[in-house]
Amino acid sequence: MDHGQAATRVRELSEQLERHNHLYYVEATPVISDQEFDFLMKELEALEKQFPDLASPNSPTQRVGGDITKNFPTVAHRWPMLSLDNSYSREEVADFVRRVEKEAGPVRFVMELKYDGVAISLTYHHGELVRGVTRGDGEQGEDITANVRTVRTIPLRLRGNPPAELEARGEILMGFKEFEKLNAQRDEEGEERFANPRNTSAGTLKLQDPKVVAKRGLQNYIYDLYTGEMPFRSHFENIRQCGEWGFRTPDPTKRFIARADGIEDIMAFINYWDQARHHLPIAMDGVVIKVDDLSVREELGLRAKSPRWAIAYKFPAENKATRLNGVEFNVGRTGAITPVALLEPVELAGTTVKRASIHNADQIAKLDLHLGDMVLVEKGGEIIPKITGVDLAQRPAGAAPVRYPANCPECGTPLVRDEGEAQHYCPNEHGCPPQITRRIEHFVGRKAMDIGGLGGETVEALYQAKLIRNVADLYDLTQEQLLALGKGWGERSTQLIIEGIAASRSVPFERVLFALGIRHVGETVAKKIARSVGSIDRLEGMSQEELTGIGEVGEVIAASIRDFFAAEGNRQIVARLRQAGLVFEVGTAPEGPRSERLKGMSFVVSGVFKNFTRDGIKETIEANGGKVGGSISRKTSFVVAGADMGPAKKAKADELGVKVIDEEEFARMIEA
Ligand code: IVH
Repeated sequence: MDHGQAATRVRELSEQLERHNHLYYVEATPVISDQEFDFLMKELEALEKQFPDLASPNSPTQRVGGDITKNFPTVAHRWPMLSLDNSYSREEVADFVRRVEKEAGPVRFVMELKYDGVAISLTYHHGELVRGVTRGDGEQGEDITANVRTVRTIPLRLRGNPPAELEARGEILMGFKEFEKLNAQRDEEGEERFANPRNTSAGTLKLQDPKVVAKRGLQNYIYDLYTGEMPFRSHFENIRQCGEWGFRTPDPTKRFIARADGIEDIMAFINYWDQARHHLPIAMDGVVIKVDDLSVREELGLRAKSPRWAIAYKFPAENKATRLNGVEFNVGRTGAITPVALLEPVELAGTTVKRASIHNADQIAKLDLHLGDMVLVEKGGEIIPKITGVDLAQRPAGAAPVRYPANCPECGTPLVRDEGEAQHYCPNEHGCPPQITRRIEHFVGRKAMDIGGLGGETVEALYQAKLIRNVADLYDLTQEQLLALGKGWGERSTQLIIEGIAASRSVPFERVLFALGIRHVGETVAKKIARSVGSIDRLEGMSQEELTGIGEVGEVIAASIRDFFAAEGNRQIVARLRQAGLVFEVGTAPEGPRSERLKGMSFVVSGVFKNFTRDGIKETIEANGGKVGGSISRKTSFVVAGADMGPAKKAKADELGVKVIDEEEFARMIEA
């Protein structure tokens, strides 16, 4: 067979196999035997082996899993991946419907199941799957394409005439049957059982070996479509259209999806699934109600993280009774005290529960908790279990009531409770050890400065050794000091810490701002502020009114920011961090130039830069059509090197003949 004939045959076989795959996994109506299927697959494998250039990443042969993935690059979502507002009563759903209808008049709704799995974004170019990305923080997620290709209900190539660029979103799940099978296998191998299908799907998608992923039998449903020119103005029609392109979509004849003209239809759907959910082969935890008409959706708009045009109704969580053995009072990073119930272990929704949160003093009083009580523990979805009630009939004679402490259990300072706030605080911000160490832990955390090598225990040890008293002290640490700590502080681990600290100097401003740990300034708010204010200098000088002028910043957050900068201690820390070279203003990109100038080129970015943050450079590369890789290979076009790029990397680049450029040269490439 010559190359031309082989190419034709490869195309034929690929189409046939993908069609049979679809018939088997999506339609559940196979028309050939497994043996015949294997036979075609073998022929394709043989041809791809003989003519390697004919093997494409979307070949049906890739369903069994390609090469090991070393890391999952972070990629930005083209459209943010929002979440849904949850409701737990039919009354709240009715309120939602009334709210929508008040604003938009009578509208049609679509109802779907709320699948309890892992959200995934699937990007297709000219009908070919090019990327599968996790939700991540909603703005950027992890590229897990190689693993996604093994999910057989996800088409590798679309049929019909899909738009050149489209993104379908949905949920990846593991069925109960596959979950049980996997656990049975784990039992046999003497390994610990997995807790529930959702965690197992999430864990599976992060495995480095796609071949293992392929064996786990993951599946998916599509619930969303994004493309420049939407085929229909109706969500229901768009989902149906996705089905025609080969996606697995919810089946209306099984009432996985339905349209509703008003509250009655919605309640009927909820009531139906309240019963029927117990017989489903997959995990679901509620139903989702969405406005069908895309124009009405636009009219209704979005909140910070969720649309106004949809709501999830969650079925009541599972609960069980168990004994309360004690209560612990923990001190958090902001000094907030959280009571934690210590429970007699109990199996709940697939996990063993030993601890539960009790929110505050009011909650303890309201429940009238006594030690030794039989309490009702509830697990709402993935959240930490909570205590929802006490069985008074079973209270042991002479049981002592749970008392809220008047003083901080860690430093003895009298606790305070601000007016209108439910929580008690230890006000000893700069002297209460757990507050100090947790602030530092927060600072070094993955979503903040991401200083690898430093975590809870190491921070604690450095604090005990009096090497750090606040976050700025980290930047004065030397490897000698760490080595001197003795056992457990080896050459390699201490070097990693020092390198991690150095690398954190290029963390973008929005994360630095989050890392500072200003009360009420979480990840999302920090991002908003960083992008709209631009620098810490401007932020520090802003009045309450100016602050509340920023979207998302209300009176409480604004006051908290003002308090933070009002404290001399904080201003000193910021000054020292600035001196240490941290990024205190927004870098280039994503607002930077966009072009296709770097198309086809692949970059590795290494070291610390003067004018850019490392993430800024990576974003700029991607914004201009280039790719960013983690390690230098023959495929790398350029290494963008900053100060202190490691000698090993330099040698590797030289050895492979990869050109090393500095940030000025890089800037010229973009401007050219
Ligand atoms: S729509 C803006 N539909 O729930 C719309 N989400 O809380 C966002 N989910 O991350 C998603 N079933 O993982 C939608 N039928 C469904 C869903 C669903 C499950 C999950 C999804 C999302 C989360 C949002």
